[in-house]
Amino acid sequence: MEENKFFLEEEPKVAAIGAGMEIFEPSGNMVIDIGGGTADIAVLSMGEIVTSQSVKVAGTQWDQDILQYIKRKYKLLIGERTAETLKMTIGTAVTGFRAETMEIRGRDLVSGLPKTITISSDEIEEALHESLESIVHSARQVLEKTPPELSADIIDRGIIMTGGGSLLHGLTDLMAEQLKVPVLITERPLDVVALGTGVLLESLGNKKRSWL
Ligand SMILES: Nc1ncnc2c1ncn2[C@@H]1O[C@H](COP(=O)(O)OP(=O)(O)OP(=O)(O)O)[C@@H](O)[C@H]1O
Ligand SMILES: [Mg+2]
Repeated sequence: MEENKFFLEEEPKVAAIGAGMEIFEPSGNMVIDIGGGTADIAVLSMGEIVTSQSVKVAGTQWDQDILQYIKRKYKLLIGERTAETLKMTIGTAVTGFRAETMEIRGRDLVSGLPKTITISSDEIEEALHESLESIVHSARQVLEKTPPELSADIIDRGIIMTGGGSLLHGLTDLMAEQLKVPVLITERPLDVVALGTGVLLESLGNKKRSWL
């Protein structure tokens, strides 16, 4: 259990390294890694986490948000995979940013029969709104706890987003607008942890065993 906890705490650091951030420098670097289970927000400097928060509101919760929204609004039960597809295909983090629609099928909770309905991008935003708010709120708290000289670096460099959740349409725009800091998404956001682990293991050399 201890080992799991250790990895969980260090995940944003590994993600930041994988994203190519220079976290061993004295300057401040902020990373928001949104995966399936958690959104990890961290400010790193000199290779250490200065301030961080982890919230259990990420991709899987977003799928549940969409599922529950459709259940409530249309009395239609859809599967988790359909919810995830909606999120990835027509989802958006900002109202009016995207005007896509998608037909989905589910089971009508009243008749018990299959039914097809059309869902819009703005409806996905509405479903995700509360969850996205809570990530913004945590990121704001992390920024508030960051020493001013490190904040200045973050404003200059921008916040780096990693993880599959960062691919949600409009999310970097929402974050930038809410946090008043430039927000960039890393290349290959789904691979940063694997890439970062590789970099760390290589650089740790024979210290590798004690780290693991
Ligand atoms: N284009 C996309 N838009 C929105 N979400 C996406 C997109 N592509 C993938 N995701 C979501 O990203 C999540 C997976 O991301 P990632 O692989 O970074 O998570 P993880 O590292 O396995 O989870 P954790 O970091 O919580 O342990 C899934 O919830 C998936 O639905
Ligand atoms: Mg992850």
